[in-house]
Amino acid sequence: MNIGVYPGTFDPITNGHTDIITRSLRVFDKVIVAVAPNPGKRPLFDLAERVEMARLVTKELADVEVESFDGLLVQYVRERGARAVIRGLRAISDFEYEFQMALVNRKLDSKIETVFFMPSEEYSYLTSSIIKEVAGLGGALHDFVHPHVAERLRQRLRRQIP
Ligand SMILES: Nc1ncnc2c1ncn2[C@@H]1O[C@H](COP(=O)(O)OP(=O)(O)OP(=O)(O)O)[C@@H](O)[C@H]1O
Ligand SMILES: [Mg+2]
Repeated sequence: MNIGVYPGTFDPITNGHTDIITRSLRVFDKVIVAVAPNPGKRPLFDLAERVEMARLVTKELADVEVESFDGLLVQYVRERGARAVIRGLRAISDFEYEFQMALVNRKLDSKIETVFFMPSEEYSYLTSSIIKEVAGLGGALHDFVHPHVAERLRQRLRRQIP
């Protein structure tokens, strides 16, 4: 079976992420969405919440699994019997970091390939960070995230505002 691992912070999962998952299912038999703790990014949602939201948003998609992972990505990819890492490229600005990561991962395990997918243009400006910013300012979220995620963002950010 041709398995791809899609790693990220998913804080929270956006329609851009879902677009990449849907596209990658055209190429892979199974896609594992691998949610990384990434404490350095100081996530708004804890790991369990991010996993739960990603599961809910992808529950209609057959052949998608959501898990958390810790440690070295290539190690996790091997353990799951996958051969490829899936990443999304929005703009030229993503390229440099993604290129570096892909080459480091190749150095760590030359058998694992990184595969890039381009999102639909309507999602090409979407990042989790920008959505948290919009949510914090009380902007409409329905074009950016699943309704459940929008609700969670509203709850969380309302609680944080004194
Ligand atoms: N709208 C999008 N279109 C295409 N790829 C995307 C999109 N959003 C995220 N990705 C890709 O998904 C992967 C995981 O991204 P990540 O979880 O860091 O989300 P992010 O939106 O970049 O969040 P942050 O704002 O915290 O950096 C990365 O390869 C990233 O480039
Ligand atoms: Mg990012």
